[in-house]
Amino acid sequence: MSASSDDTPPPTWGPMRSYGRIKSRTLKPRQAALFDSLLPQIAVPEAGPVEPRALMPEATAAWIEIGFGGGEHLAAQAEQRPDTLMIGCEPFLNGVGSALRHIDERGLKNVRLHAGDARDVLARIPDGALERVMVLFPDPWPKARHHKRRLVQPETLAEFARVLRPGGLFRFATDWKDYADWTLERALKAPGLRWTADEADDWRTPWADHVTTRYEEKKLGDTPPIFLEFIRT
Ligand SMILES: C[S@@+](CC[C@H](N)C(=O)[O-])C[C@H]1O[C@@H](n2cnc3c(N)ncnc32)[C@H](O)[C@@H]1O
Repeated sequence: MSASSDDTPPPTWGPMRSYGRIKSRTLKPRQAALFDSLLPQIAVPEAGPVEPRALMPEATAAWIEIGFGGGEHLAAQAEQRPDTLMIGCEPFLNGVGSALRHIDERGLKNVRLHAGDARDVLARIPDGALERVMVLFPDPWPKARHHKRRLVQPETLAEFARVLRPGGLFRFATDWKDYADWTLERALKAPGLRWTADEADDWRTPWADHVTTRYEEKKLGDTPPIFLEFIRT
């Protein structure tokens, strides 16, 4: 498989369904101004291949965070690793506004944003271009009839494996037990991904470099957080 070019047919997966809101309230004036000033400078191109080396030539690694919410985690990781390109995707516009504020306040130079469906960006990333894919506390869609709306599907797992280089990591966290089971079951079957856990504590304990997310803090799920990590074989 290779990254899509402009004339590649759209992916076969269904449309993104919003669990929360795409736009809930009027943006604060400062955030609205950043949409006009900062976002155009750091936006992932709307079409064509998404090449980490083109986005940040000096980067030594490239990560993607899918569904960054308010961007607190994305900004914190970017601040700790200025040499790593952080691609963040989030369709919730107030979340993008919040992330822009964090990026601006901290003067971060290594973040690129896509204000939309991450799958549109993934499809344009070349094979093996990333060191890490992060899906942290995704929308749980707990009702069985909505499970098909979950971000983690065999198709998305195949894309994660495709864009990761061998040795790269796919990290998934949730506080919904059924979503952890769902992801584990599918990721264990996904070609190119191997679960790194050896013992139970490995999925109960946050990763050493984990930064607590805003949604995680809300504790809305039915279990303490579960941290699943898979290595690209
Ligand atoms: C429950 S929130 C968690 C936000 C953040 N990761 C946190 O832990 O605070 C899930 C986020 O994923 C976003 N999302 C859902 N589908 C997405 C997609 N296809 N691409 C990118 N983001 C998506 C939603 O808009 C929402 O902000």
